[in-house]
Amino acid sequence: MPRPRGQQRLKVLLRSSAIQKRVREMARQISADFGGEHVHLIGVLKGAFVFLSDLIRGMETPLSLDFMAVSSYDGASRSSGEVRLTKDLDSSIEGLNVILVEDILDTGITLDYLQRVLQQRKPKSLRVAVLLDKPERRIKLNVQPHYLGFKIANEFVVGYGLDYGERYRNLKDVCVLPLPPAE
Ligand code: IMP
Ligand code: MG
Repeated sequence: MPRPRGQQRLKVLLRSSAIQKRVREMARQISADFGGEHVHLIGVLKGAFVFLSDLIRGMETPLSLDFMAVSSYDGASRSSGEVRLTKDLDSSIEGLNVILVEDILDTGITLDYLQRVLQQRKPKSLRVAVLLDKPERRIKLNVQPHYLGFKIANEFVVGYGLDYGERYRNLKDVCVLPLPPAE
């Protein structure tokens, strides 16, 4: 018999209600920190789009949005710091209070690269907001999120925007997907 497909293998790690509560707290914190100043949020496609959409609806400070996309890479076998920008911003960030919004911080290679790219474009300030952090896997120790939702163990997670082969992004909870050991 073929192995059952679908969501039976998933184990809930963070329930939707807990995620919603934490994201509202993060949104309030950001609004308070910027005290009514304009904030420009940059979402890293595709994984961050669900988090970003909840985050902005909890924010009361004036804001604008842009998106970037980077090539995915195999973090385990190619951790050389090779990241490629596949979609750049639509507009300049010079003089803006920028918050880079990412779904998950793992080795830190992606955010290290993006922070360096954005810093060169002379924003007024640059902060990072991340929903999930897997500190155990960090290679780039200099990457520290200013705003963090949850620290999690070194497990592969899906849902709330995060995918495995483009699946599971629509799940309301963040779930652990057991994966076979890497070759
Ligand atoms: P980093 O460059 O190793 O920090 O990788 C971050 C990127 O890897 C994230 O933006 C995700 O796209 C992907 N990633 C890392 N861990 C997971 C996971 O557990 N589930 C889904 N995607 C992940
Ligand atoms: Mg990502």
